[in-house]
Amino acid sequence: MLVSNWMSALTELCREIANCQNCGLAKHRTNVVPGEGPEDADLLFIGEAPGWHEDQQGRPFVGPAGGFLDHLLASIGLKREEVYIANVIKCRPPQNRDPLPAEIQACRKWLDRQVEIIHPKMIITLGRYSLAKYFPNESIGKIHGKERRLSDCVIYPMYHPAAALHQGSLRQIIEADMLKIPQILAQGEEVARVTVESQQLSLF
Ligand code: URA
Repeated sequence: MLVSNWMSALTELCREIANCQNCGLAKHRTNVVPGEGPEDADLLFIGEAPGWHEDQQGRPFVGPAGGFLDHLLASIGLKREEVYIANVIKCRPPQNRDPLPAEIQACRKWLDRQVEIIHPKMIITLGRYSLAKYFPNESIGKIHGKERRLSDCVIYPMYHPAAALHQGSLRQIIEADMLKIPQILAQGEEVARVTVESQQLSLF
């Protein structure tokens, strides 16, 4: 029997993340939560940090906020297995406190490598911490639901799904922002296609 040693870059990266001891959160965790989804996903959703359920299972967004994220994905005809779901922080902060700047810094290289490998067409930031990675001086209240292009990727800020569970008035806003994604993705693909075509033409 032929046994292959080949491992995808993302699987290899998740193994590295699982052994991470780069900050104090490592000693509190039950499981690391690297993220999950296809390596060639068009959409990358970035949340904040694992909560209790995620820490228990080693999977992102499997608690109540995850239930709402599944519902949002279904509203645009997607299943969670079709998108990549990651977090800024890969280990649960004790008592679900906010991540500290030093923890975000220690974890930064993992998310950067995920983005590099997946190379998504669109990154959807969920909440303040992933928004701050791309737009450090912006407020979610002002820029949610407004896409911006960053080289060949579209960054799309949304409120965190948990916000709808704590503040019912945000639910409709989050649902409406989600419904815009397919069209923004299609526009992004069109821009990429035209760019490639004009680059090819300039070669002649
Ligand atoms: N909230 C997050 O930001 N990430 C999770 O994985 C779960 C809840």
